[in-house]
Amino acid sequence: MPRKLAAGNWKMNGLRANLTELETLEDRHGDAGVDILICPPATLISACEDTPFDIGGQDCHVAEAGAHTGDISAEMLADAGASYVLTGHSERRTDHGETDTIVAAKSQAAYDAGLIAVICIGETLAQRENGTTLGVIETQLTASVPDTADAENTVIAYEPVWAIGTGKVPTLDQIGEVHAHIRKQLMNRFDDGAEMRILYGGSVKGSNAADIFSVANVDGALVGGASLTADDFSPIITALEAS
Ligand code: PGA
Repeated sequence: MPRKLAAGNWKMNGLRANLTELETLEDRHGDAGVDILICPPATLISACEDTPFDIGGQDCHVAEAGAHTGDISAEMLADAGASYVLTGHSERRTDHGETDTIVAAKSQAAYDAGLIAVICIGETLAQRENGTTLGVIETQLTASVPDTADAENTVIAYEPVWAIGTGKVPTLDQIGEVHAHIRKQLMNRFDDGAEMRILYGGSVKGSNAADIFSVANVDGALVGGASLTADDFSPIITALEAS
């Protein structure tokens, strides 16, 4: 069984004052039986050096260094104290035109810097409604995940675009169907595909976490809004520990 992972994506939220949330989280889950990852804005990564939790970036550039104003390389994230980085989050794909090819290159850049890539995939509402979800997931998985991926350097996050920040969540059957499909693809392609962690993301909250974690092949969650405060994130971690 892969070790479970509760990952928080703070997105463009958080100032130094908000780091007290991590202290509260440490009081409650400092010795949790699951992995806990916080992806704060890049400005806060080095300020998180005392937390016992894993720290991740939210994006990285494909290149190691160079003339790319405003961008951050995977090596810089690692240097600041990160051990993970999100790649291909739907907000990056939508707001910054990131294609599967770019996401694969960013994931490879993460591996090269010694980071674990949390590679995000997910269908839009239109794709869900026209019945192409599994095909879309398969295409994204094939093209966004490098051939060099393995269970140590890669986590897959299934995040239906229509569920992110909307309060809408797929049914447990829908989550189970997609996660089983992802597991099958990973096992077909990678020797250790059975051990690669697959997270569900999209409107995970304390109130629905236990149900989501009861679904087969769900190895944890990628949480946006409900990861911003210890009070909201804590019950999700507790539910994952109990699952
Ligand atoms: P949400 O975001 O939990 O606020 O829906 C999830 C994500 O985008 O990773």
